[in-house]
Amino acid sequence: MYSEKVMDHFQNPRNVGEIENASGVGTVGNAKCGDIMRIYLDIDENQIIRDCKFKTFGCGAAVATSSMATELVKGKNIQEALQITNKAVMEALDGLPPVKVHCSLLAEEAIHAALWDYAEKNGIKIEGLTKPKSDIHEGEEEEEEEY
Ligand code: FES
Repeated sequence: MYSEKVMDHFQNPRNVGEIENASGVGTVGNAKCGDIMRIYLDIDENQIIRDCKFKTFGCGAAVATSSMATELVKGKNIQEALQITNKAVMEALDGLPPVKVHCSLLAEEAIHAALWDYAEKNGIKIEGLTKPKSDIHEGEEEEEEEY
């Protein structure tokens, strides 16, 4: 059902963790299953992504796609990172079963949300980036966890 690459990234996910004082953080949730993904970006003064880490509370496909997405964005500039679609992440993983395609959207959305956060913090506009709809704000998320 899953490709070897998906199994590898699920069992040995790359770049798990947090970045302290990250340049941008994006947290998104999947309305279908309630899973949550957070991406941290460390972006240098030339707008190159020096480092990227993630935390995912979700299914195996979500973990594998976050892992691959972090690998893909590292070393890219912010415009290139914006072009990394869920399709590109799935291709890099040699595909996902159709029922798991929606999981890969989290990675794309989380990268966009983190770039949006970076842009807001720095008062800049990133060409082609629109405000992420599903960004979850820290306070709201913590509130939900209490129930
Ligand atoms: Fe929730 Fe995959 S089932 S992200």
